[in-house]
Amino acid sequence: MRNKFYITTPLYYINASPHIGHSYTNIAADTLARYMRGVIGEKKVWFLTGTDEHGQKIQRAAEDAKLTPQQFSDKMVLQFRDLWKKLGISYNDFIRTTEDRHIKIVRKILEILHKKGDIYQDTYQGWYCTPCETFWNQSQISEQLCPDCKRGLERISESNYFFKLSKYQDWLIRYINDHPEFIRPEIRRNEVTSFLRNNKLNDLCISRPKERMSWGIPLPFSPAHVTYVWFDALINYVSAVGEFDAKDKYKSEWWPADLHLIGKDILRQHAIYWPIILKALDIEPPKCIFAHGWWMINESKMSKSRGNVVSPLDMAGKYGIDVYRYFLLRDVPFGLDGNFSEASLVKRFNSDLANDLGNLVYRTLTMIEKYFQSKIPGGGVAIKVGEAKAISDKITSLDEKISLNLSALGGFNFSQALESIWELINMANKYVEQTKPWNLAKENKIDEIKDFILVLVDVINKVDDQIAAFIPQTASSIKEQLGKDEIKKGKPLFPRIQT
Ligand code: MSP
Repeated sequence: MRNKFYITTPLYYINASPHIGHSYTNIAADTLARYMRGVIGEKKVWFLTGTDEHGQKIQRAAEDAKLTPQQFSDKMVLQFRDLWKKLGISYNDFIRTTEDRHIKIVRKILEILHKKGDIYQDTYQGWYCTPCETFWNQSQISEQLCPDCKRGLERISESNYFFKLSKYQDWLIRYINDHPEFIRPEIRRNEVTSFLRNNKLNDLCISRPKERMSWGIPLPFSPAHVTYVWFDALINYVSAVGEFDAKDKYKSEWWPADLHLIGKDILRQHAIYWPIILKALDIEPPKCIFAHGWWMINESKMSKSRGNVVSPLDMAGKYGIDVYRYFLLRDVPFGLDGNFSEASLVKRFNSDLANDLGNLVYRTLTMIEKYFQSKIPGGGVAIKVGEAKAISDKITSLDEKISLNLSALGGFNFSQALESIWELINMANKYVEQTKPWNLAKENKIDEIKDFILVLVDVINKVDDQIAAFIPQTASSIKEQLGKDEIKKGKPLFPRIQT
């Protein structure tokens, strides 16, 4: 299918409640999905999110909660669905790794790769980090601590199944080299490339003996084993949108994914394991994997295990959904880390939302009310000179600018896109101050006021179209207030927060 945009988020572990970090990826994905659907219009969009429900971490959390893993998952998944609903996440599909449609495809893939000889049995000896669900070999660790999370590792020796990652290492290096857009941003691409050049890939252990960990998908060729968490979870991106036929050929109208949006914590799994699994299956790789940065709290990564999580529901409840969305998308260039604090959120609120956008809308509506009895004057702008001309040029160039900002080439730079929109808002606010419409009114220069107001109306309409993907509720509220012919002025959109 041409002209389609298939975008995915990670499947979140459901052992704990979602925090700001999880909501960040989904808000970013939602913004792109809305942008592609709305502004671009002609693209067909498929937006997939979901939950990762198998594995030791979840089995243990369920035990602690005195529930079966399935009961526990059924309960926890509601928190995610509920949060996405509250935040206005417009996903098309929500996949759970415990669903039959997923399990069926994972088993099929295991079978195909086993038959092909890319999955084989061997003894596994090494170190395992349960919270990260990751194996490490001796050379990768020091002091028996997980290199990622710094928690204690367990020594393990057991019979397991392995996937031949190593067989495809050279192919992957070439592939990444030939496809500059495949791993983004550049810094992450370089990270993967240098890792692949400097390390020989170990084959990936993809199973667990059932007696030690039973909460997983049984291997079709060895019922005593279940598959290991990453091998299960990554497959969701294809299991959600397609099927294998009798000849083991994968069929899907959406695949390849146009964008896998992830955090940089799961780059290796997505940029190394996943393309190799697909290559072994003779399925095309995704077009782009983009790894964004982390939200930190006082310079340390937000995570449940560090006990420093901030709840998205609390923030959105306290300041408003759009304010929360706006802050996350605006405050940090996509790809970099950011520090979350309510103080910086309030600062953004007061400057960008209250002073700039809110003020422009409110003062424009007030003038339409006052000078034109709430009717939007018809006829279009008669003369555009000086600042009015500059504003009109800015309006004309905005679409293209934002479409570049929100492309892979532009680094999906939400922050930059918003900055471009705000340049226009600020030009308009300056224009009001320079024009001094109250003086024009005193001199009864009604044609000039009309032209002036129409410039502002054009600005607000353009801004409204462009912010819709980022802050949809605000966009519809502006649309309601600034009707087609008549206005319905409401309260200010963002009353200043006193600090
Ligand atoms: N279940 C795996 C992913 C499987 S994908 C096939 C997993 N889940 S997770 O619940 O730990 O979610 C990880 C993702 O949540 C990150 O990649 C990122 O998208 C988001 N974030 C979690 N913490 C974050 C921050 N502190 N900051 C920004 N995003 C973070 O890994």
